[in-house]
Amino acid sequence: MPDTLKISRTGGVVLVRIDRPKQMNALNFQVGSELVSALEPLDNDPEVGCFVLTGNEAAFAAGADIKEMQAKTFGDMLAEDYPAIWERFGALRTPKIAAVNGYALGGGCELAMMCDFIIAGEGAQFGQPEIKLGIIPGIGGSQRLTRLVGRAKAMDMILTGRMMGAAEAESCGLVARVVADDKVVDTALDAAGRIAAYSKPAVQLAREAVNRAEESALSEGLLFERRMFQSLFATHDQKEGMAAFIEKRKPKFTGK
Ligand code: CAA
Repeated sequence: MPDTLKISRTGGVVLVRIDRPKQMNALNFQVGSELVSALEPLDNDPEVGCFVLTGNEAAFAAGADIKEMQAKTFGDMLAEDYPAIWERFGALRTPKIAAVNGYALGGGCELAMMCDFIIAGEGAQFGQPEIKLGIIPGIGGSQRLTRLVGRAKAMDMILTGRMMGAAEAESCGLVARVVADDKVVDTALDAAGRIAAYSKPAVQLAREAVNRAEESALSEGLLFERRMFQSLFATHDQKEGMAAFIEKRKPKFTGK
């Protein structure tokens, strides 16, 4: 059993709560390794269709554990390669929703951005305050924040270290939806339940096609999407989904 996480599963949805409340859910190496140890096996489980990652009311996560990192040398950081464990989380193929209440700072903001989308409470606060500590974002913040919100706001956030509230985060594209604080996890679980009920091949190829938009020229991305779209006509789920629409019934997707 992990010490730093609480994990529960309902049907095809797995809810993970980061659970270090006294440290504002600061992300030490143990959180990262427990997270990937728990989720990597579930990533290959055909019955699992979506992950929801959350924290508590005060903090999704207040960043890397500063107390654990303070004394480390360049050599220590190079050898331990702290970012690598989090990249394994980012590489999971199962869709991931971040359900954010409170602070998502530094590594916490970066972890939320590794998810496919973020649902935030009205009181959520996002930021990359590493500059105040004499460092810079280390698990993707300079790259993912810039892609999500554009250069101007990314520079503002990363160079000044200021926080951004949920409304601003939604208006600039960091956050998909803002809901009342006490509805964040339920809203994320509802979205996750919908995703988990769809055809797995369709969900997987949809994610890959959207992710391609960030990594390729438009013409290559469009060709990739076209082939993925066409390839789904080789699945039983496509036949079933369309037949169910025509027959006015709910589809039964099997992932085949
Ligand atoms: N690491 C370790 N401990 C942390 C922490 C962190 N990132 N964030 C908060 N804590 C601890 C505090 O030290 C404090 O512990 P004690 O009670 O033992 O003193 C406890 O959590 C509560 O924190 P505060 O008393 O500071 O609570 P607050 O409500 O006044 O402020 C906060 C909350 C704004 C989140 C503030 O704690 C804060 O600024 N935290 C640091 C945020 C930060 O700089 N994050 C970036 C880390 S570096 C990083 O993430 C690098 C990377 O890219 C991977």
